[in-house]
Amino acid sequence: MTLRNKQIVIAVTGGIAAYKTAQLVREAQAEGAQVRVVMTASATSFVAAKTFQALSGNPVAITDNGLFDQAGMDHIALARWADLIVIAPASANSIAKLTHGEADELLYALCLAHQGAVAVAPAMNQQMWSNAATQENLKHLADRGFLIWGPADGAQACGEVGPGRMLEVTALLQLMIRQFENSAFAAQHILITAGPTHEAIDPVRYIGNRSSGKMGFALAEAALAAGAHVTLIAGPTHETCNSRIRLINVVSAAEMHHAVFQQVDDCDLFIGCAAVADYRLTDVASEKIKKSDNTLCLELTPTADILSDVKQAKPTLFCVGFAAETEHTIEHASEKLIRKNLDMIIANNVSCSDQGFNSDYNSVEIITADNQESIARMRKTTLAIKILDAIHKQLINHKEKSNVRFLKKSHST
Ligand code: C5P
Repeated sequence: MTLRNKQIVIAVTGGIAAYKTAQLVREAQAEGAQVRVVMTASATSFVAAKTFQALSGNPVAITDNGLFDQAGMDHIALARWADLIVIAPASANSIAKLTHGEADELLYALCLAHQGAVAVAPAMNQQMWSNAATQENLKHLADRGFLIWGPADGAQACGEVGPGRMLEVTALLQLMIRQFENSAFAAQHILITAGPTHEAIDPVRYIGNRSSGKMGFALAEAALAAGAHVTLIAGPTHETCNSRIRLINVVSAAEMHHAVFQQVDDCDLFIGCAAVADYRLTDVASEKIKKSDNTLCLELTPTADILSDVKQAKPTLFCVGFAAETEHTIEHASEKLIRKNLDMIIANNVSCSDQGFNSDYNSVEIITADNQESIARMRKTTLAIKILDAIHKQLINHKEKSNVRFLKKSHST
């Protein structure tokens, strides 16, 4: 029971994802947490307070009417009681109110009075999410130390598709658990590459691949939630990330190589999740290549292997690679683990249409020199947490073998 005796306020604001929060309350309790539910008035038009009362076994606080404090100051009583406040779903309106420190409902007064961690799990229409007002509000909240959990990408209740869905209950639960763990990566600098690279053919054309960047971005978010300072070097992708992640955008394999080597000296763990092009054009045409009836041959030159070069330059740095395979996944990945001298490789079969490249889901094999673990198909956001857990476990072994800088540093902090 990973949340044993933890006192958690789960707060519900007005959004259709509120129905999922009922499950979150149950699952947090199943992990041993004591849960009290706070709702805004508008949340009660989506799910009845009675549902949360029955599930949590406690009255639901909507206004300061003395349920938790005889003097009627429930917001103060709950602020002192809570180890963690999780607002799920957090509507655009609630995010704006939190940003401005409003206190016109119990929830907002509670957040002002609470001295511990507050996590918000945004849930809204994708345009509302992308709106500059919402993005600026979230940046302010993140700068003030609020934890921003999500949102996820995908189909929305309004019929649109895009970022703004509340994270799934399993992912939120993992983040809650993580919040109470000894922040495994606290104050560590984790460098992650993500997405594809584009290799120019001429000024308008390029060679690319189907990588969406979703896995690398999910790893960056999970590392941030585990207390790390995260630098994410991303090839061309549509993914967005928390403003506390240092995002460096690149286009080609050569640019990614250069950016990685600018950051790597200062890092404690390197995760090469990008689908880096293996070849680039030997000569990029300076003008657009004209169409003709003749066969066109493009001469390709191998790109430098970023992971191999990093490991060669920094042999004690824990390096994790990814292997996207279409056949003999484990054999090919194991061969890469050895050839690139990696500490861990995450292998996945990208020939299945419902997972891997350009999907929110994946299933992987986590392979090290002496172990292999299968992780069944799940959301990349949840998978990212599992991969980081596996890395953390392996780092402990790594430390024993090589007295690596990573854990020496965490002992001194
Ligand atoms: O050899 P392959 O490209 O399949 O290996 C995949 C792994 O190697 C990934 O972790 C990827 O980020 C990394 N890689 C790299 N530099 C390259 C090609 C791949 O770091 N030029």
